[in-house]
Amino acid sequence: MKLFHAAPRFELTDSDGELVTLDDFAGRYLILYFYPKANTSGCTREAQEFSARRRDFERLDAQVVGVSPDGQSALQRFIDSKDLTVRLLSDPSKEVAEKLGALNDKGGILRSTFLIDRWGALRWQLKRVKVDGHVEQVYEVLSQLHAADNAVSPIMKARRARRALGGKVSRATIKRLVQAAALAPSCFNMQPWRFVAATGDALLAVHAGLKGGNAWAKAAPVIFAIVSRPELDCQLSMDREYWMFDCGMAAMNLQLQATQMGLYAHPMAGFDPAVVKKALAIPADHVLIALVAVGRPADVSALDAEQQKMERARRERKALGSVLSFDRFDFET
Ligand SMILES: Cc1cc2nc3c(=O)[nH]c(=O)nc-3n(C[C@H](O)[C@H](O)[C@H](O)COP(=O)(O)O)c2cc1C
Repeated sequence: MKLFHAAPRFELTDSDGELVTLDDFAGRYLILYFYPKANTSGCTREAQEFSARRRDFERLDAQVVGVSPDGQSALQRFIDSKDLTVRLLSDPSKEVAEKLGALNDKGGILRSTFLIDRWGALRWQLKRVKVDGHVEQVYEVLSQLHAADNAVSPIMKARRARRALGGKVSRATIKRLVQAAALAPSCFNMQPWRFVAATGDALLAVHAGLKGGNAWAKAAPVIFAIVSRPELDCQLSMDREYWMFDCGMAAMNLQLQATQMGLYAHPMAGFDPAVVKKALAIPADHVLIALVAVGRPADVSALDAEQQKMERARRERKALGSVLSFDRFDFET
């Protein structure tokens, strides 16, 4: 079971016989804890301690749900006799426990806790849980995860248009980047983007079209050309053409995926479109919107002095107040 992968889907019934599925928790964290048997001492303590902290977990957008092989009536008795407020599910065939790896060698339940995030990815797990201090430990992990998930994405922060790039990028990586790009939304799902990945001889031909300030991009193992035309996307009233907008979103996905994979991805408009279009056999009626150079981080000393300074400079952004207003357009025109 890998962390950060989609948690297995499940359909189980609770102590009232109601069907509960993973999808019911969309937008909330789910703490799914497996315990061997209702009404036994360790399982009672764990359930009572989770019950006592229920409100604290809810304040962090989390629901705590216990799972055991017990049937519905045993769960009801457990809840009533021990004043539990956590929801309990019945997994009589231990199918869900097995999918999550919460079974021991003999097929019994391994006391285990799984933290599933707001979009169904498994983010943390602990097997062979000791009840002492466990609930506090889960709360601590959840607090940190909640704070991290509510911050601006670390991938967005890490992404920079860097110039010191080089190394090699495989075809598999190129395909992965475009798979990520193609997950972008688009008007009526028109998907107007076309990516031409220049490698080998085609890449050398593209070099001839790079403007002087973009000579650094010649060290990139791949340069993507983003190509489209207005007719490939929605053309709506009052000059609303969406092809460039949608290509921009796809390009952003590509850059974020590259960053996540430890690569630099640098968009460029500084090129001679006639030269690059010819180099890549792009039809005359298509627009070459941008190039994106992708490569591995390389030695900064290969750049000229000015670019070395830019490479080390802090990121500049306008103040939030000059790009965001509430309820009316409140900017200088
Ligand atoms: C459409 C577009 C065109 C760009 N053209 C170039 C370019 O030709 N050369 C270059 O060095 N950087 C280019 N950039 C990169 C921007 O200068 C860079 O994204 C901006 O300074 C913000 O820095 P950051 O991306 O590191 O946050 C371009 C970016 C975009 C989105």
